[in-house]
Amino acid sequence: MSTATVQRGLAPASILQGGVVDSVQRALSQLNAKDTPIEKYIFLSQLRSTAKDTFYRLLIDNIIDICPYVYTPTVGAACQLYSNIYRKPDALYLSYQDRGHLAEIMSNWPQKDIRIAVVSDGSRILGLGDLGIGGCQISVGKLTLYVGGAGIKPEGTLPIILDMGTNNEALLNDPLYLGLKMKRVYDDEFMDEFYTATRTVFKDCLIQFEDFSSESAFKYLDRYRYKKNAVISNDGTPYGGKCFNDDIQGTGAVILAGFINAVKLASAASGRSLFDQRIVFFGAGSAGVGVAMQLVEFFTRNGFTLEEAKQKFYLVDSKGLVTDDRGDKLPEHKKALSRKAGGPQYRTLEEIVENVRPTALIGLSTVGGAFNEKVVRMMAEFKTRPIIFPLSNPSHLSECTFEDAIKWTNGKVIFASGSPFKAVTYNSKTYESNQGNNFLSFPGIGLGCILSKANEVNDDMIYESALALSESLDETESATLLYPRLHRIRDVSATIATRVAQAAAKTGVAENEKLYGMSTEQILEYIKSKQYNPSPF
Ligand code: NAI
Repeated sequence: MSTATVQRGLAPASILQGGVVDSVQRALSQLNAKDTPIEKYIFLSQLRSTAKDTFYRLLIDNIIDICPYVYTPTVGAACQLYSNIYRKPDALYLSYQDRGHLAEIMSNWPQKDIRIAVVSDGSRILGLGDLGIGGCQISVGKLTLYVGGAGIKPEGTLPIILDMGTNNEALLNDPLYLGLKMKRVYDDEFMDEFYTATRTVFKDCLIQFEDFSSESAFKYLDRYRYKKNAVISNDGTPYGGKCFNDDIQGTGAVILAGFINAVKLASAASGRSLFDQRIVFFGAGSAGVGVAMQLVEFFTRNGFTLEEAKQKFYLVDSKGLVTDDRGDKLPEHKKALSRKAGGPQYRTLEEIVENVRPTALIGLSTVGGAFNEKVVRMMAEFKTRPIIFPLSNPSHLSECTFEDAIKWTNGKVIFASGSPFKAVTYNSKTYESNQGNNFLSFPGIGLGCILSKANEVNDDMIYESALALSESLDETESATLLYPRLHRIRDVSATIATRVAQAAAKTGVAENEKLYGMSTEQILEYIKSKQYNPSPF
């Protein structure tokens, strides 16, 4: 009996005869019929769980249009509304009440060969704060982009949400809230159990930490990232390594890539040295400090001492310029880049910009509109081409819009935002925006780690991913843009993955013996041959 005969009765004849184009086009037309972003999000989630290949073909072929509905900005609303729009589970749920049994629960997950897990505790989702278990949609969204953007096989991905309670009063009082109705607990033992359980149940799994509040983010990255810092299980097996934090490292890489290209454009216009920079970071959380540290590394790898590099940075938080002597107790992650005692104490962003006269202003503050007209106009007054990156997500938390930045700088701005902005026409000229979002880097970093079988994700691998991204622009992009256009994401991810895998091999953390001795072209070819390429019937 032919396949078509066997399938009769399961689908209408036109689907059996139709092939790829039909199912993808049908899904697209259904998507277009939905009125609001959240309806589109719900439709796409259902499509992903019922017709995986159709969903991913649709996503890959329409990535620019569909990305905003599976990721930022819509995913922010999906996290907020999670308990209201819930249909069926799409992430592994681990509750604090199940401590002591996490490995057993994980073993129930139907897929066994997991290569990458994205885990959040929901404590700091985008710039929206503590959203409890609604944060699982961030893990789902990231993994959707690992599949669509890098070609990691969907069966090898695992979204995880840790339910450790929530401090969000609205959720605690919401009868529909699906998570534990208790105040959030912070418990290193629970995290250790989670980490060792993942390592035991899914041996080849890379763990990506996502949207933890900043102190936890830095703490757990330090605790688990190196094999030498390994958590030791009861049977004496070390379980460190095989993890990274995307908010700290992935964002650091993507913004370093954009920054390298931005200073090239700015230096070409002003004639000043590429390295003659004063950079104000508005926001000193995990993303702000993560990006700043990645830029510090760029300067130290290019001839500056650590002290000289640090002098270029001005970190700002909700209390103003971060200094050693402003009178409050600084958390560890801010100390690395605080200004030394005895200098000025500035409180407002306007004061800081006026006095520091920065070449670059980078926003990771969650304060929408913080780069106001006065601040942006000052930047344009001081610099031929000011670099302004309002990177907070989702869109309404962006420190300024692309349209305002173009208008207030008379088109001179070099701009990148975290969430997408449409092109702007100003004085008859059209300007294309840049999206400085870590989805340009994490899919390639993950793919490179998985295929090289890296047992650690070290600084060289992250740094190389940034260089690979900054060098990936083609001739239609490099004169005006900072990043490659999104429709090339799969090729760009393969290129990034190649450099990450090479760095892993060079530093001795790659356990895939095949890589040693391969040329760059051969590694790229190998990586491309492994990319999932859906072809729905
Ligand atoms: P966080 O909560 O750890 O840090 C926020 C920082 O902003 C804190 O240092 C806080 O003191 C500061 N801040 C808050 N109010 C302020 C005010 N009025 N004035 C000055 N500073 C103020 O958050 P995290 O993880 O660092 O993320 C920050 C933002 O960056 C979020 O909106 C997030 O969505 C976005 N982000 C964007 C990424 C991208 O790829 N574009 C990647 C990661 C994060």
